[in-house]
Amino acid sequence: MIAQSFIRELLNRVDVVAVVERHVPLKKAGANYVARCPFHSEKSPSFTVSPSKQFYHCFGCGAHGNAIDFLIEQTGMGFAEAVRELAAMAGMKVVEDKSDAPRRKRDDEVDWSELMLKASQYYKSQLKQSEKAIAYLKNRGLSGEIAARFGIGYAPAGWQNLAAVFPDYSAKTLLETGLVKESEEGRRYDIFRDRIMFPILSERGAVIGFGGRVLDAGEPKYLNSPETPLFEKGRELYGLYQARKAIREAGKGIVVEGYMDVVALAQHDIGCAVATLGTATTGMQVQKLLRHTDNVVFCFDGDEAGRRAAWRALENSLAYVADGKNLSFLFLPEKHDPDTFIRENAKAGFEKLLKEALPLSALLLRELTSRVNMKSEEGRARFLQSARPLVTLITAPVLGLMLRKRLAELAGISQSELESLYLIKPRVRAQTPQKVTRKLPSLARKLLQVLLFQPEFAGRFNAVLPESPVEFQALKALLEILHTEPHLQSAAAIVEAFRGAPNEALMREVGKELFLWEEKKLSKEDLAHEFEGALAQLGELERKARIEQLSSKSKSQGLSSEEKRLYRQLLRREPAVMENGKTA
Ligand code: UTP
Ligand code: MN
Repeated sequence: MIAQSFIRELLNRVDVVAVVERHVPLKKAGANYVARCPFHSEKSPSFTVSPSKQFYHCFGCGAHGNAIDFLIEQTGMGFAEAVRELAAMAGMKVVEDKSDAPRRKRDDEVDWSELMLKASQYYKSQLKQSEKAIAYLKNRGLSGEIAARFGIGYAPAGWQNLAAVFPDYSAKTLLETGLVKESEEGRRYDIFRDRIMFPILSERGAVIGFGGRVLDAGEPKYLNSPETPLFEKGRELYGLYQARKAIREAGKGIVVEGYMDVVALAQHDIGCAVATLGTATTGMQVQKLLRHTDNVVFCFDGDEAGRRAAWRALENSLAYVADGKNLSFLFLPEKHDPDTFIRENAKAGFEKLLKEALPLSALLLRELTSRVNMKSEEGRARFLQSARPLVTLITAPVLGLMLRKRLAELAGISQSELESLYLIKPRVRAQTPQKVTRKLPSLARKLLQVLLFQPEFAGRFNAVLPESPVEFQALKALLEILHTEPHLQSAAAIVEAFRGAPNEALMREVGKELFLWEEKKLSKEDLAHEFEGALAQLGELERKARIEQLSSKSKSQGLSSEEKRLYRQLLRREPAVMENGKTA
């Protein structure tokens, strides 16, 4: 394990401009450097490298990150490898440290990922020695190159093969990896036996689970690792690690259902596919993929099960389609899955189908209208009723508007009639806190952004932070980092501290947003002004929320005399209360 503190120190020392320049010729443009983006094809340069922030950022495809990310993305090397390469460039000696394991990770979790890696290496080595397993994969049309790219292996028959791999076969951590089980008599045994092994990698390339397929007709067909804190099926996408580059190049990601589908598509030069892990597509998975691309195509079997799976995916996606994102659905001919289809029809056949994929809105309308008799008033009423909960999930303003318009047309009513039918009557009492909470995320984000620009402002932070929304937890963590590591110089080095931590995705987004700010050309004074303004607003929102809280308490159960005093002070905006008044 490389010490976390070393990684941040390293980022403080290396210059992302020099790292990028080794691979991409850069041109100076103002304070930054620009180039044509190495991650997507373009005619004019929208790829920017910022020496002050130490980030690269592409305004075209959204590629973004620090020097470590760049090496990973550009060369496909793993995280540790990228760190070692950068250390060599900077002439620094890598500091390995067990005691300084990543924050929020326990020691045994660190061991855990090492065990998983070791197991996957073992399975890979066993594949080389099994003619039977090699023949199986060949028969399914896979080349050695593709098998290697996905790290496919083989778990031989036998109950305790892993005892030879792990000297401490009886260790508790091994049990937690789900690679072994214990019988009622307390005897340990391997759970993957005589199976083709598909390692499941995290977005960063760490082995977090396995799927194992029988070679013949045994049951279950696929055995999967159990869920652990580091492996939640609803959060992961099989093949995403390998697909990242292809997704960017193709400008889209394809979601399929099976391990073999991903691998077979890659075999036929469609590298941008990922698979859900035997469960319905979740909102988290959609979100994750939408961070890599604006276009997501779900590819399901043409049978009833495939249609059901598509509908579930649609329902779970609605909340995450922003305007400008395209989600569509492709249905394969009956009796086909992507694997069999591409083997029969090759890349060209599959791409032809891709062109015919049904946009999310079209699928939604097709499905809802097919469930009722649209020729009767009653049928159209049910149609509108069933559409309502779905349409209200859509947060994208333009898409939402267009869909409501279309629903009205189909139901034969005017759009304003539909809007009033769908209007959720506001409950007057609940309004104030709602308004307050809606403003909070953007306020917290602004504070995060300013602090990344001007870390020294952290010392001026004087507000009481609410527990939610999550943006505030990130803000709390950021303040803590700035306080304990004041030497971190660039936004990139600071954001790096969030790698593997709960708010990683959010902080990466905030890092990206810095590039939008940059165009406003704000001076340090402007930033200070923004910062003070946001703090003042935060204080004001906090005050309002507490007034509302006390006022509703006074209506329901009455206030103590101390609370009454607080209430009056809050109404009079007496600042002293804000600082010590945790009691309200
Ligand atoms: P499928 O049954 O469609 O398998 O399951 P497949 O991907 O086409 O596999 P091949 O072609 O027969 O080898 C799709 C996915 O559902 C999960 C796996 O993730 C699989 O890839 N699954 C399926 C299981 O987890 N367990 C099972 O027993 C079956
Ligand atoms: Mn299949």
